[in-house]
Amino acid sequence: MRIEQYEKAFLGVGAAMLVVFLVALAYTSISMGVHLPGRAGEIDPAQVRSIPPFDEPGVRELGPGRYEAVIVAQAWGFQPNEIRVPAGSEVTFIAATVDVIHGLYVEGTRVNMMLIPGQVSRNTYRFDEAGEHLLACHEYCGIGHHVMSGKVVVE
Ligand code: CUA
Repeated sequence: MRIEQYEKAFLGVGAAMLVVFLVALAYTSISMGVHLPGRAGEIDPAQVRSIPPFDEPGVRELGPGRYEAVIVAQAWGFQPNEIRVPAGSEVTFIAATVDVIHGLYVEGTRVNMMLIPGQVSRNTYRFDEAGEHLLACHEYCGIGHHVMSGKVVVE
């Protein structure tokens, strides 16, 4: 079988790309620590509201410029549904659901979590600029799904 020159070139480019992608994957996962979110904890969905920190949902200051936003999701709302932090803050979102699967997406950020019954979800983001971000449920959770939202206000 004779392989045309163009075919050889394409095979060469394909093989080179494969190596480049594998190296990029290894570099980002090993050196930069980019990976899928791991388990942030487990929780009995029926007891969420009585287990810390979910017994007191809200925003807490952990230190200078560091905040923790504890959010409880329930059909069809977030508690609290408004989070206020000063610009430049690093906010760790810690969320759990008391009923079905919900989503928690903060518009314009990489905070995008699935809230699964029995699991605790956690994600940290730094809000550098003042403004408002929509906080939305992005997993269909029933008839009121479209009204399940809130906002993050960066002051
Ligand atoms: Cu909660 Cu959709």
